[in-house]
Amino acid sequence: MMKNIKIAPSILSADFSKLGEEIISIDKAGADWVHIDVMDGAFVPNITFGAPVIKCVREKTKLPFDVHLMIMNPERYIEDFVKAGADIIVVHAESTNHLHRVIQQIKSYGVKAGISLNPGTSPDALKYLINDLDLVLVMSVNPGFGGQTFIESSVEKIKEIRKMNKDVDIEVDGGITDKTIIKCKEAGANIFVAGSYVFKGDYRERISNLKKEE
Ligand code: DX5
Ligand code: ZN
Repeated sequence: MMKNIKIAPSILSADFSKLGEEIISIDKAGADWVHIDVMDGAFVPNITFGAPVIKCVREKTKLPFDVHLMIMNPERYIEDFVKAGADIIVVHAESTNHLHRVIQQIKSYGVKAGISLNPGTSPDALKYLINDLDLVLVMSVNPGFGGQTFIESSVEKIKEIRKMNKDVDIEVDGGITDKTIIKCKEAGANIFVAGSYVFKGDYRERISNLKKEE
């Protein structure tokens, strides 16, 4: 059975000068989750924000906060993001030597745990972990920036991960539009991050385009 589709607008493309209002707007426009991109300038060549900013906007919505950590050695900051109000914490397979341990750490706080794979990383990295995960995040662009072009090999990767586990949430992030989302849905993904596609148009219209059944 097809899993429920969820749309998680990425606030990386929001207007940071009014971040709280932007979150209220995507909530009203039908978003399911709020996708929050944390970048450290080391794991990725860009810097965004950390736990204090997330804490400030936490009260603006009841929607789950899906926190995508693009930082080296994320185990150092898990507690901070939990305290800031994260509901889902996603770490990169390439960002730590101790993936299994950090997943247990996240789960020990009662929040959902996910692993993200860069475009060049094989799903084999998940082999001994997937049954412990709530979610796998397939990066369909190289992480660091919004507005990049969808990498086609992500579709095959989604299919492989879906074969490995039929229940895990599979989220796709990068270059998602009303066009690229179609093949990702068919491949077995069920959660879709969209930054520029949602924020560069009418939020409600764009979110409903993504939710449309093909
Ligand atoms: C990129 C981030 C994405 C980004 C996606 O590193 O992880 O969440 O906001 O932006 P779009 O949807 O514009 O590709
Ligand atoms: Zn992201």
